[in-house]
Amino acid sequence: MEIVFHGHSALSIVTQNHHLLIDPFLTGNPLAQVKPDELSPDFILLTHGHNDHLGDTVAIAKRSGATVITSHELANWLGWQGIETIGFSIGGTIQMDWGTVKAYPAIHGNGYIDEEKQEIIYMGPPMGMLLTIEGKRIYHAGDTALFSDLQLVRGDQPLDLAFLPIGDHFTMGPSDAIQAAKWLQAERVVPVHYDTFPPIRQDADAFIQALAESGIQGTKLAIGETLSL
Ligand code: NI
Ligand code: MN
Repeated sequence: MEIVFHGHSALSIVTQNHHLLIDPFLTGNPLAQVKPDELSPDFILLTHGHNDHLGDTVAIAKRSGATVITSHELANWLGWQGIETIGFSIGGTIQMDWGTVKAYPAIHGNGYIDEEKQEIIYMGPPMGMLLTIEGKRIYHAGDTALFSDLQLVRGDQPLDLAFLPIGDHFTMGPSDAIQAAKWLQAERVVPVHYDTFPPIRQDADAFIQALAESGIQGTKLAIGETLSL
């Protein structure tokens, strides 16, 4: 499969027959290189409903017909807008013909901010997601602080790849992400959720170097870069 980094927390996972898009925040991301119209996923996975993750989901799903996989609450809200959804919650695993998705906790908020109405809508628990696709196990941590139950994600099988936020301010920063990487024991760690806005500027090269000093392989993906797995 090929994994394409779209900036912030957004990724495409392209398999033989499917295009899974995670957290497609493109419009409003000053670093984004791809336009929402250029992506035609058949599934969109959302770790939570903050706008820098929900992003262009509604427009993309309406055009491509993608089914959105996310928290039960956010799934209902998207369903009211005419979008096909599969809602689930923490601890649950859903089986698809392309693999499985298991929802893990993330320590973060999950209110959708409606600027017009000046209201905050509860969108259920924020999540990390463990994907098993074509025999590979991939963890997307979503937005989260460091917490010790990240040790439980791996179980007794190897993790091939983990995406960890390093931006700090809204999520864990680089040093906490090093600890998370030690707990996850993934074959490879890719930093996400940094540099998009001034408060989350980080030195990803220094993070990769610090991972290496802990014996962990890290890969910095440039925006638009593809990783083959
Ligand atoms: Ni968030
Ligand atoms: Mn975020």
